[in-house]
Amino acid sequence: LRKVILAPSLLSADPLNIALDIERLKGECDWLHVDVMDGHFVPNLSYGPSLVAALKAKKEIKWPIDVHLMVEPPENFIDLFLPLGVDYLTIQIESTPHVHRVLQRIRDGGAKCGIAVNPGTPIEWVEPILSFVDMVLVMSVNPGFGGQMFIPQVLKKVEWLYRERVVNGLDFLIEMDGGLGIDNVATVVNYGCDVIVAGSAVFGSSDPARALKSMRESVME
Ligand code: DX5
Ligand code: ZN
Repeated sequence: LRKVILAPSLLSADPLNIALDIERLKGECDWLHVDVMDGHFVPNLSYGPSLVAALKAKKEIKWPIDVHLMVEPPENFIDLFLPLGVDYLTIQIESTPHVHRVLQRIRDGGAKCGIAVNPGTPIEWVEPILSFVDMVLVMSVNPGFGGQMFIPQVLKKVEWLYRERVVNGLDFLIEMDGGLGIDNVATVVNYGCDVIVAGSAVFGSSDPARALKSMRESVME
């Protein structure tokens, strides 16, 4: 049995009822994924540190908070999030020439560090930092919006990461984000993904807990 970490993306939650939407997950989630967009690195705006602070302040919310920064440059923003006690802080590899330094600062700030790779970016770019990161996020859509179509060509990147991890005895997690749902979760997990981010497939469903449960069961079949 493969264990999968399910991380619903709050981008697709009802912004006027985020707390209610989190309750509707009924604990079927493993992490909560928060997308931070700056209207510069990506052509959209979304949540920021105030939402993360509110999530962290609510004691009923006990799941790790997985923050995905789509901002440029990330070094100007990480200090807004680290003091809040975020669990994972992921930056995009395309967003700064100082990737290693920023990851180091995230580590030093007490969070696990992740590196995200856009669909058009070669996965080999992460090779020099693989032994340093806690997670690699393979983007399976172009970042900026929920509800887009899954780009299957990124699966080769997961194969490459999986092999690198085995060959070098590393232990980073492989996360995938974008266009994921009941129809393709089992496939991407079989390729080697550990963490599944899903927005519209969860919150667009009439029963988000049921949607998560179906995804988990599809992986275990
Ligand atoms: C896209 C975001 C995703 C988004 C995924 O830029 O990084 O986390 O919420 O949404 P779905 O699951 O609807 O593709
Ligand atoms: Zn995301």
